[in-house]
Amino acid sequence: MNRSLHIIILAAGQGTRMNSSLPKVLHKLAGKPLLHHVLDTATKLQPDKIHVVYGHDGATVMDACKSYDLNWIVQEIQNGTGHAVSIALREIPDDSNSLILYGDVPLLSADTLKNLIEISDRFGILSAVVGNPSGYGRIIRKDNHLVGIIEERDASQEQREIHEINTGVFFADSTLLKMLLKHVNCNNSHGEFYLTDCVSVAHIRDIIVNSLVVYDEYEIAGVNTRRQLADMERCYQLQKAYELMEAGVHILDPSRIDIRGSLSCGRDVVIDVNCIFLGKVILGDRITIGPHTVISESIIGSGVEIKSNCVIESAIVGKDSIIGPYARLRPGTELASQVRIGNYVEVKNSNISDGSKVSHLSYIGDSDIGSNVNIGAGTITCNYDGARKHRTKIGNNVFIGSGNELVAPIIIGDGATTGAGSTLTRDVPAQQLSLSRSEQQSIVGWKRPVKK
Ligand code: UD1
Ligand code: MG
Repeated sequence: MNRSLHIIILAAGQGTRMNSSLPKVLHKLAGKPLLHHVLDTATKLQPDKIHVVYGHDGATVMDACKSYDLNWIVQEIQNGTGHAVSIALREIPDDSNSLILYGDVPLLSADTLKNLIEISDRFGILSAVVGNPSGYGRIIRKDNHLVGIIEERDASQEQREIHEINTGVFFADSTLLKMLLKHVNCNNSHGEFYLTDCVSVAHIRDIIVNSLVVYDEYEIAGVNTRRQLADMERCYQLQKAYELMEAGVHILDPSRIDIRGSLSCGRDVVIDVNCIFLGKVILGDRITIGPHTVISESIIGSGVEIKSNCVIESAIVGKDSIIGPYARLRPGTELASQVRIGNYVEVKNSNISDGSKVSHLSYIGDSDIGSNVNIGAGTITCNYDGARKHRTKIGNNVFIGSGNELVAPIIIGDGATTGAGSTLTRDVPAQQLSLSRSEQQSIVGWKRPVKK
């Protein structure tokens, strides 16, 4: 079969039931717009072209899909799925095959679609057997042959009892589909052109309609309401959690984890409840992550312990480091091995070398810190003069006393010590003690002000 493959994605519906000003297909599942899920799956099939039929708020949808190579087709008035497909087919060559997907059915797998294409011959549909068929078109069979699809609103009570439903996914020879659609009318309760009517049109003409049946309700589910979207999100996340567990990750509660991107884990990683992973996150071996931690776009080395309530964004954490609780690593943070970042410490755009510690209540911004440095509690690098950012450079084996203000640009030499409470504005020589604070005085007879 050397015919070209064209994929048509229907996305012109208004999505009224979402009650949203955002087009339905741009609502996110696992941090990614519904339509992107469909586009990513479609891309895996290596089609000659992907056509997207849009209607409402086209500019917003197109803008959100700039990174894909797509042919956009407008459907001014939403006259039904059959109408939408026939508009798209005008731009598709006769000697090709067409695969029809919906922009609001995000979890279909490429493997299922490949299987459908395999069994379809000239015409095939993807059906599903589900526990609760309500809302879907029902599959009508006679002697096991597919003879039609009836929408729920047009179905008899008896037909509504059928649990085999139409997923909406069709595969067909484009010429055949064009011919079938010419015979579809709008004699139904909605006065629309239903794509589904192609099945009965084919049956009348003795054209065989093949079908692939799936049993995974979530794979074929469409999103019409926010509730359905949330249900699907949980199902998706549970699946991701189980996959990680099978690969050797210890997730304390698989129903309380969110992966909005790709999370790769080494062996014996332990993840406590309510952690969120965003974008691409890479975890090494033997890492433990405490509850309520958010990690995005970061690489965490083996043996790292991240205690509860940390926020880590675009950072690299070296092996055997200990982070948190309540630590914040901002973009551009690079920690070498065995670094300790304690509670209420914020680090941004800084490098911290092996074995150094910032244990309590500090801000480290635009800094380069050597190895085996101890930064005392409450220390702040004053990196911003109101207009520009400046760097703080600290050598190896430095001891910064508690409550220091290091006014950048500043260089602190190897082995230096600074006194607690110092505000340092000039470079600090190596191996010496530097401090800047006034002598302690006691004023005899001083009285506290009192309220009148
Ligand atoms: C459709 C099917 C139904 C199937 C169900 C699966 C028809 C008539 N019915 O019903 O058998 O069980 O999907 O989810 O096909 N769209 C357009 N232009 C239009 C109308 C719809 O682009 O004029 C798009 C929508 O944006 C959506 C898709 O087509 O992505 C399906 O439309 P929707 O209104 O959700 O159809 P359902 O009633 O769910
Ligand atoms: Mg729908």
